[in-house]
Amino acid sequence: MRADQHRRLRDPIEIGSATLRNRLALAAVTRGMAAEDGTPTAEMAAYYRRFARNGVGLVITEATYVPGPASRTYLAQPGLTGPAHAEGWKRVVGAVKAEGGHIFLQLQHGGPFREPELGPGIGATGRVPSVSSWQRGQPYGETRRIDGAELPALVEGFAEAAGLARAVGFDGVEIHGSRGYLLDDFLSGYNTREDAYGGSLENRLRLPVEVVRAVRAAVGSLPVSYNLSLYKMDSVDYQPPGGAAEVARTLEALAGAGVDAFHVSTRGLDRCAVGETRFLDVIRAATDRTVIGGGGVKTLDEAEAALAQGRLDVVSLARGLVANPDILDRTDKGLALEPYRRGLERVAVEDAPQ
Ligand SMILES: Cc1cc2nc3c(=O)[nH]c(=O)nc-3n(C[C@H](O)[C@H](O)[C@H](O)COP(=O)(O)O)c2cc1C
Repeated sequence: MRADQHRRLRDPIEIGSATLRNRLALAAVTRGMAAEDGTPTAEMAAYYRRFARNGVGLVITEATYVPGPASRTYLAQPGLTGPAHAEGWKRVVGAVKAEGGHIFLQLQHGGPFREPELGPGIGATGRVPSVSSWQRGQPYGETRRIDGAELPALVEGFAEAAGLARAVGFDGVEIHGSRGYLLDDFLSGYNTREDAYGGSLENRLRLPVEVVRAVRAAVGSLPVSYNLSLYKMDSVDYQPPGGAAEVARTLEALAGAGVDAFHVSTRGLDRCAVGETRFLDVIRAATDRTVIGGGGVKTLDEAEAALAQGRLDVVSLARGLVANPDILDRTDKGLALEPYRRGLERVAVEDAPQ
């Protein structure tokens, strides 16, 4: 980047114990390119290295399944559940760090949104997603309602993966708390459980808060990001029952449990709103933690504008960066950006445009 351009984007930023070299982040993008047993491959190391080599400040990995029942969400999804997975991730982490980048692991339990080929998903209630599955386009058959007695093991699964992430050398972790996956399924107004984990907001918050606490304890001083969204995979215009006050309380509770940064996924920075107020504005007003945000950002000018307006601290791009891993250099040189095409993230990196 030229010194006179995108000045704020170029500014380093501290998130907890990590100092990012700039404020451009790759948002999590599921590829489904791991080995069948969930071990990250050498190709994945090359894929993630390319973003760091091109100057991206923070790489957030694709959603990675944690130990626990029915946690694996996608076919050929990477996991972090034991030594083999850890060895694979070491290669990825080493590759990104060798290029001066930082890398956070995204921890996921898919909850109800599990590819039907892998078996039934689990959730706060037996609610079955009303869309076809994301990866294979199949109808979701059933969701098994989780018994209260199973919840400690779910929390422990997140903690175990987080501890492994720390041992592997990740710079931080991101908890996938958005879009209707397990933690969002508990947090959302769809959670009508009648035990201590459903119904009222404090009850709906219980599992996410327990997970954050356990992850925080497992990673020590490493930064913890929490990815949240209003929209669900099967409900684009979802609204929290308690409106902006509910969002504010949610952030307060999660921050209190140990979150350093909130990663807000939107369908366009201006397109998501709680009632009449833009979601990002509600978030900004509700927390003093770092706000990473993205959705629909395609150019560095747009990213810089969001930073200049004070709406975000870090800007994340998913499709825009997958299509243009070299967006910093391209923009510097005044070259046109490539459009994202569906499936581009699955092009093996040796064959992908550099
Ligand atoms: C192919 C694809 C895979 C994605 N996988 C994930 C994922 O694993 N975890 C996640 O939190 N978001 C995932 N997302 C959502 C993106 O991180 C991002 O929030 C969304 O694409 C909007 O940002 P964009 O307009 O910059 O693409 C995925 C998006 C795409 C297009």
